[in-house]
Amino acid sequence: MSQTLFTNATLATLQGETGYGLRQQAALLVDGDRITWLGDMAELPETEGAEIVDCQQRLLTPGLIDCHTHLVYGGDRADEFELRLEGASYAEIAAQGGGIVSTVNATRQASEQQLFAEALPRIRALLAEGVTTLEIKSGYGLDTENEIKMLRVAARLADELGLRVRKSFLGAHALPAEYEGRADEYIALVCEEMLPQAQHEGLVDAVDVFIESIAFDLKQGERVLACAQDLGLPIKAHVEQLSDLGGAVMAARRGALSVDHLEYLNPEDVAQLAASDTVAVLLPGAYYVLRETRLPPIDALREHRVAIALATDANPGSSPVHSLLLIMNMACTLFRMTPAEALRGVTLNAAKALGLADDIGSLECGKQADIVIWDVARPAMLSYRLGINPCAAVMQAGNWRDRGVFQ
Ligand code: NIG
Ligand code: FE
Repeated sequence: MSQTLFTNATLATLQGETGYGLRQQAALLVDGDRITWLGDMAELPETEGAEIVDCQQRLLTPGLIDCHTHLVYGGDRADEFELRLEGASYAEIAAQGGGIVSTVNATRQASEQQLFAEALPRIRALLAEGVTTLEIKSGYGLDTENEIKMLRVAARLADELGLRVRKSFLGAHALPAEYEGRADEYIALVCEEMLPQAQHEGLVDAVDVFIESIAFDLKQGERVLACAQDLGLPIKAHVEQLSDLGGAVMAARRGALSVDHLEYLNPEDVAQLAASDTVAVLLPGAYYVLRETRLPPIDALREHRVAIALATDANPGSSPVHSLLLIMNMACTLFRMTPAEALRGVTLNAAKALGLADDIGSLECGKQADIVIWDVARPAMLSYRLGINPCAAVMQAGNWRDRGVFQ
């Protein structure tokens, strides 16, 4: 099995309860697909035949993880961007048959091949900045055939790009037009047909639901999550994005992997999140694009030590954002998070949000060798600058995905 020894590195290991877990003048050994040793330059292990990579004090971090995306879809919604700039709200556009439902029409019309081709440049943008794992949701098909089509595209993207992809079934993302006035019937279809079939095809790693005034109510949302759990699947939920319907507490009580968005989460409910292992996934891209002014309850989340992850929420409506580095900057600038919290949010805590923290998310012996080498000396540089990509090389599961400067 091939070995790679990274020398003269600065490591942001993310080990420890807070901060970067920084080690200067350090080295790290990869054996096969795993990290097998890390420590000081003064204590290098014996390695014979290992490739030596002199990092020249560059920063190494775990591969970045985008734990919430809607990257597979048809069409675009630039027209709605213009409407919002003229004063229409996201909820008004949705109520008039635009929003998610308009992407559903475009997605239903697109072939699997078209969806794959359209998703590629979006994913490549993420990969160029050191993403090694990402989550992709369905939710623009809203019938059995088209939800499965979306999940197949996600699976194919993983195979062809050699990426780790977690596929979330989001059949309960919006009410399709043909079920107008029959939301409970649609939820029954989701639970009894769509989800079981998608799972049967091996296409579901977790189940998500959108609990919101423009989507499904708390009871309908809980029904979907309960069905998922009956099938043995992990759950998560879009909650408290535009209003407080109590979705976060309900999902956390059920042991959800994550609750996502949270601008309207009542700070007093955060203690109930803290009683679970549920991760709070914040999506500053949607906050920014929708020009939201209400902040998620960051201080309360911090005080109660709820793990906070960050993601792009890449989608054609509320967050046409394809840069995790930009999201880190937004988390600091808009949400007043620290650069260390931002880095934890796209590594270790994002791994937790996907249920993968035993395997990825930090530089630690035994974990997968998903490693990004950055052309910077200090980790705060990753959050600080906008519009520069300092990614110098990427290793995924012990294989060079991009040797970059180490040709
Ligand atoms: O996470 N909130 C619901 N779903 C997406 C938006 C999807 C869309 O607008 O197409 C979100 O923001
Ligand atoms: Fe989302």
